[in-house]
Amino acid sequence: MKKILTLMAVLSSFAFSQTMFVNDIKADLVDPKTKKVVGEIYEGTPVKVIKKDGDMAVVEIAGEVVNDKENMVALKKEPFVTFYKLNEGKATPKAKFLVNAKKLNSDAMIAWEEIELMYYDTCSSCHAAHKSKEHLMGEWEAYILAMQTFAKINDDEKDRILRFMQAFVKDGIVKE
Ligand code: HEC
Repeated sequence: MKKILTLMAVLSSFAFSQTMFVNDIKADLVDPKTKKVVGEIYEGTPVKVIKKDGDMAVVEIAGEVVNDKENMVALKKEPFVTFYKLNEGKATPKAKFLVNAKKLNSDAMIAWEEIELMYYDTCSSCHAAHKSKEHLMGEWEAYILAMQTFAKINDDEKDRILRFMQAFVKDGIVKE
């Protein structure tokens, strides 16, 4: 009985057309046909699970192709809250990929938890941590760039914090 319940829990956590969220700093994007890694998708990005395929999930990713970066897709083409990047070639909205199912979580807040902790660690030593909603999505890049040397963070860490701040603004992707 316990086994059946566990199995049901696993299956139901992969209901068709369910939105799930990337639950790691990044995950490989795999081409469904060639099974080759073709890019990377970043934490917190919402994906629509079409079906499971072994350890992988077939997912569809919404978003817009970024201005001047044809291989990138973000929430907005500005580019705000980057979703994923292809190693080469042009990205298309609503493209389908395979992603390791273990790197997906149905709870957006859990997917953002690690970067949230890192944000408070990095950005609240000199002043109280500023809330995402204090500024517009398009304003955060300049603020975080200005704080980069203060906070002693490298470009990857800066980009990670920037995605987090953009995701939680009023018109971001996380509904709290
Ligand atoms: C070493 C100290 C220090 C660290 C660490 C630091 N800040 Fe600051 N921050 C400041 C100082 C000083 C100011 C005010 C002066 C200025 O604007 O340059 C400021 C101002 C700001 C402002 C402007 C507030 C406003 O509304 O005008 C924002 C937003 C901000 N910081 C965000 C961040 C973020 C995000 C991080 C982490 C990446 C961070 N800070 C890390 C020292 C720091």
